[in-house]
Amino acid sequence: MKGRLIFLLLMVLIFSVQGREQYSNSIVLELTHRHAPQLNTRTKTQDQRLKDLLHHDFIRHNIISHKWRQGLQPRARTRRVQAWEQTPITTATTSNFTAAIEMPLGSGRDMGIGQYITSVKVGTPSQKFRLIVDTGSDLTWINCRYRCARSDNCPKKGRIKGRRVFHAHLSSSFRPVPCFSQMCMVELMNLFSLTTCPTPLTPCAYDYRYIDGSAAMGVFANETVTVSLTNGRKRRLHNVLIGCSDSFQSPTLQNVDGVIGLANSKYSFATNAAEKLGGKFSYCLVDHLSHINGSNYLIFGTNHNQVMVTGNTHYTRLELNLVSSFYAVNVMGISIGGKMLDIPFQVWDTTKGGGTILDSGTSLTVLTDPAYQPVMEAIKMSVSKYQKVKLDGVPMDYCFNSTGFDDTLVPKLIIHFADGARFEPHRKSYVIAAADGVRCLGFLPARFPGTSVIGNIMQQNYLWEFDLEGNKLGFAPSACSTS
Ligand SMILES: *[C@@H]1O[C@H](CO)[C@@H](O)[C@H](O)[C@H]1NC(C)=O
Ligand SMILES: *[C@@H]1O[C@H](CO)[C@@H](O)[C@H](O)[C@H]1NC(C)=O
Ligand SMILES: *[C@@H]1O[C@H](CO)[C@@H](O)[C@H](O)[C@H]1NC(C)=O
Ligand SMILES: *[C@@H]1O[C@H](CO)[C@@H](O)[C@H](O)[C@H]1NC(C)=O
Repeated sequence: MKGRLIFLLLMVLIFSVQGREQYSNSIVLELTHRHAPQLNTRTKTQDQRLKDLLHHDFIRHNIISHKWRQGLQPRARTRRVQAWEQTPITTATTSNFTAAIEMPLGSGRDMGIGQYITSVKVGTPSQKFRLIVDTGSDLTWINCRYRCARSDNCPKKGRIKGRRVFHAHLSSSFRPVPCFSQMCMVELMNLFSLTTCPTPLTPCAYDYRYIDGSAAMGVFANETVTVSLTNGRKRRLHNVLIGCSDSFQSPTLQNVDGVIGLANSKYSFATNAAEKLGGKFSYCLVDHLSHINGSNYLIFGTNHNQVMVTGNTHYTRLELNLVSSFYAVNVMGISIGGKMLDIPFQVWDTTKGGGTILDSGTSLTVLTDPAYQPVMEAIKMSVSKYQKVKLDGVPMDYCFNSTGFDDTLVPKLIIHFADGARFEPHRKSYVIAAADGVRCLGFLPARFPGTSVIGNIMQQNYLWEFDLEGNKLGFAPSACSTS
């Protein structure tokens, strides 16, 4: 009995050492913000960028809350989607707001598209694509031609109408998912697979709908994705589910070729890459609203100090599958200047109030009203001696003239997690440089009940590690610089 136990322990030890060997490589990808100067053909002013971000955040929050409500009634999602019949998401809750930013709610569902862009290579031989990185997306998809394979007059390679296109027939590793498969009929249902299946081997098709009637349509396939490892070698990830989108239209997708999905779901890129690289991924983001130039990094596998941290790493429980495929955390409260605010606990409760998620694709931090009001009251006192500023077309209530502004006057905001971990964001992450000489409190109100979101500006200059196998979220302050 004892011998067996020792044998088992030895096996575990050998296994974990081998495991570490195998995972000694990790992938580090550089991220560019969607609003980075080099990506914009026309340069935008800082308040235009802020308006764009707000607009985007509102649409995205609508999607997040919609998914949360859907998650509360799992039975509502048992029917598969017929082409063109999906119900659009209601825009009622944001109608006041969007009117204020003077923009139509054009892109509607927006697929939860995030803010950061990276490059990966797809197929065999590989073709390079610039993809939006999104913790809110389950699906990785690229601008692609599939049907071209059977037509004579289609381009053999390269761009179509100035856009990079993946030509499926030129890749020897492209494996369409058959529409008759369990994968298409059941597992990809949440990724909007269609019921149409003229022959069993017809590729499984999808249809993402937008409120304005535009859509992204295509077929699902397994493909090989090639990424560069930190040691300079390349790593090929096989059987990555991708969407081959042969039609898409969206104002948010200018200058990019698709989306890389980092949501927590079976077929997302994050899950696939993490499975092969130690079960975790991390990112470090710098402030894109300030003038500080710096890089953002996305790491699959363990961060072997490639992105350096400047303080201790704290851990809290990462709640997977609690709010759809988002990354949820158990917030217990918020303190400001050492004083715990009076926020009803229901706000943080997923089933009663909506809970809290960490999102790379939402810029500002979204708090539902019962949390938003006390937080604003507590911070605004510290900046009351500065002149209030109303930015044209920007519906933020708490902006002020920051001439002579002293950061140290702002009380420390701390997000307290139920397991005792504390996240202390940098002050510039909640009193944000919104325009020249103007700072704004970086929060957006949302209706209760609804999901609160820790946005990417609040997360900036921290390294966030999503440990999918250990159900842990690690965070440590960092300048997001590499060694
Ligand atoms: C829109 O604004 C009006 C007045 O400002 C308010 O009465 C109404 O409740 C608001 N609607 C929503 C959906 O917030
Ligand atoms: C695609 O990959 C999945 C594993 O992720 C596998 O179960 C499935 O059989 C593959 N399908 C095809 C058509 O290669
Ligand atoms: C930051 O980047 C911009 C544009 O890329 C450049 O003009 C500016 O000089 C840079 N600033 C610093 C401090 O490096
Ligand atoms: C802020 O105040 C200074 C001096 O009081 C003034 O010159 C400047 O124009 C103000 N800025 C804004 C954006 O109102």
